[in-house]
Amino acid sequence: MPDSSTNSAHRLPDYLRNTYSWAYLNHRTVPWLDRPVVVSAILWGNASRLMDAAVREFAPGQQVLQAAAVYGDFSLRLARQLGEAGQLTVVDVAPIQIANTRRKLAPWPGAEARVADLTEPVGTSFDAVCCFFLLHEVPTYARHRIVANLLEAVKPGGRIVFVDYHRPHWWHPMRPAMALVFRYLEPFANSLLAEEIATMVPQTAGFEWRKETLFGGLYQKVVGVRRG
Ligand SMILES: C[S@@+](CC[C@H](N)C(=O)[O-])C[C@H]1O[C@@H](n2cnc3c(N)ncnc32)[C@H](O)[C@@H]1O
Repeated sequence: MPDSSTNSAHRLPDYLRNTYSWAYLNHRTVPWLDRPVVVSAILWGNASRLMDAAVREFAPGQQVLQAAAVYGDFSLRLARQLGEAGQLTVVDVAPIQIANTRRKLAPWPGAEARVADLTEPVGTSFDAVCCFFLLHEVPTYARHRIVANLLEAVKPGGRIVFVDYHRPHWWHPMRPAMALVFRYLEPFANSLLAEEIATMVPQTAGFEWRKETLFGGLYQKVVGVRRG
């Protein structure tokens, strides 16, 4: 997988520049949003629980692809879980996010971070892939390409783990607040809520799937194991 951080022709996706510059591309806001307390508030106090739910799907010694940078200590938790014999590769399309992730992962020689667009084929295969809260932040056409590329990057017998938003139960007390968040801040999230990850693209047919929902249905963990 080539690192395009030094390629001046490298271009950020329009949806990212137009919708999420304030959150992911701004040198002033990134250090503030990267604090565990902010991550925890955004996830209504569930950040640790959701990160643990993802991280425990991986085993020491595995080679794992993390699809997109995540604020807070998620990558560190994942690197710790993989241990010294493991290898974590974080890929993000934004150079500022990769620089920030490299800084956080500096104590882990078995971890690397590189710039690449996940709507393009990954080009390498991994024992496992982790996709934490990326899918709700991309429009449908990009989401389908990303999911297809990530599925193709899983070795036979390997697994892929998605943690993301899900449609909450009708009685959920946060439902009205989340409807406003999705309307004004996360304009692609509702299109994720209308889809099942396990049937999103033709490549999903090559996997066995399990799904669980958390916190009254507001979040989902979907795990696929590649046959063969
Ligand atoms: C993982 S998601 C959101 C994570 C979560 N909200 C958090 O706490 O950080 C955000 C990241 O996805 C990255 N991203 C968006 N589209 C991408 C793409 N096509 N390829 C690689 N990274 C992408 C953005 O640059 C951003 O750093």
